[in-house]
Amino acid sequence: MLGSILLIFLPALLSVSAIKGKLCTEAGGIGVNYGTRATTLPAPADVAQFLARDTIIDRVRLLDADPALLRAFADTGLAVDVTVPNGDVPRLTSPAFARRWVRENVQAPHANISRILVGNEVTTEANRTLLLSLVPAMRNLHAALSSSLQQHHRIQVSTTHSLGVLAASSPPSAGRFRDGYDMAIIKPLLRFLRATASPFMVNAYPFYALTTTTTTTTLDFALFRAVNAAGVTDDGSGLRYGNMLDAQLDAVHSAMKRLGFGDVDIVVAQTGDYNKNAIRHLGSGVGTPLMPNRTFELSIFSLFDENLKPGPVSERNFGLFRGDMTPVYDAGILAAPETVERGDQRQAHAAGRRRAAPAPARQCAIRPGGVCYEPDTAQGHAAYAMNLYFQSKGQHAFDCDFGDTGVVTTTDPSYGGCKFTVNKD
Ligand SMILES: *[C@@H]1O[C@H](CO)[C@@H](O)[C@H](O)[C@H]1NC(C)=O
Ligand SMILES: *[C@@H]1O[C@H](CO)[C@@H](O)[C@H](O)[C@H]1NC(C)=O
Ligand SMILES: *[C@@H]1O[C@H](CO)[C@@H](O)[C@H](O)[C@H]1NC(C)=O
Repeated sequence: MLGSILLIFLPALLSVSAIKGKLCTEAGGIGVNYGTRATTLPAPADVAQFLARDTIIDRVRLLDADPALLRAFADTGLAVDVTVPNGDVPRLTSPAFARRWVRENVQAPHANISRILVGNEVTTEANRTLLLSLVPAMRNLHAALSSSLQQHHRIQVSTTHSLGVLAASSPPSAGRFRDGYDMAIIKPLLRFLRATASPFMVNAYPFYALTTTTTTTTLDFALFRAVNAAGVTDDGSGLRYGNMLDAQLDAVHSAMKRLGFGDVDIVVAQTGDYNKNAIRHLGSGVGTPLMPNRTFELSIFSLFDENLKPGPVSERNFGLFRGDMTPVYDAGILAAPETVERGDQRQAHAAGRRRAAPAPARQCAIRPGGVCYEPDTAQGHAAYAMNLYFQSKGQHAFDCDFGDTGVVTTTDPSYGGCKFTVNKD
């Protein structure tokens, strides 16, 4: 709705280029995942002030419900999503535990929570206990919020999914959920989300979706460079796709529609590559071929590099900012001094806005200058990206599938400074 209203005004607004980011924040919203597993990070209060004052970000997602972080974001005007760690999800099947969780986390002084995410990618964990407790846990939390005294029913309850929850995603019109999961988990989940006006949330990494048969065309497709080129046509719908993110969102939409829930909102809960293009595109109001004329909320993964995060090294190096809050690369989220700001609290800070020093773009290994950039072939880049995805997802075979084009190998394709293997440091 809001997306189409904004579209009417778009031609007029476009003449002020800096206002584009502002459009994003008002319509779809730009969030960032704020993890704190690093040795040297700024104080939470500084981070909160920085985000509110110097960036166009208007939502943060916490990996838990840390009271110190919640306090830091109180009164900043930023929306905060908190996460129930997967380990606590089964316990929330007890209504008493759910009430206690709300009492201890949501009703904490100063907390201003807008959404609770129950677990992360539970639907792609092969853990029956966890899977079967997901929807009951969400219902219990929602009930506990509704019955609490402070009108907390406005807090949304949702959960995040990886695209591994889809059995098919190509072409987008053929998108469907994994068999068994569709009826047992996803349908009751969608019913809950619709009834509580909460979004279906996906972690989408378009670049990772490249295949070994990647051509320059499909690479352009992932990088949003195909906008003026032919793009890729979905033979099922006859619709043309200019980028991978649209294709992924429409695959999710098709899968939801197949179960009768095409009206449930989709939010990009995490994306970590080509953020600038993703932000501009999803905030533009153009929409996707199957969901035209709308904007999408999206959250970037993540705010800082996290050197203490367990698991593969790739998961630790997605940061937007260094510990001193200078940008690692230009994701287009700094509030430009010339940005036209209308009537919100940020205007008060405009005069004192600190400009972060421009930093040499670090870029990831397969971007120009990266250790795996040469040879500069789409196949080489795709192989690296696929492996990164596979490693970061815990080496499940289905995360190396990529439409039957990926294979798990024991031969290490590393060369020179380009390491495919997981760094143990
Ligand atoms: C609380 O969060 C909402 C968004 O969920 C925001 O609109 C509001 O300004 C915030 N309130 C404070 C006091 O920060
Ligand atoms: C399943 O998940 C629960 C909750 O996170 C955990 O306690 C349990 O150990 C897991 N089971 C397996 C087999 O991994
Ligand atoms: C989307 O916007 C275009 C251009 O204004 C318009 O022609 C089209 O009918 C709209 N589609 C929908 C589904 O609203």
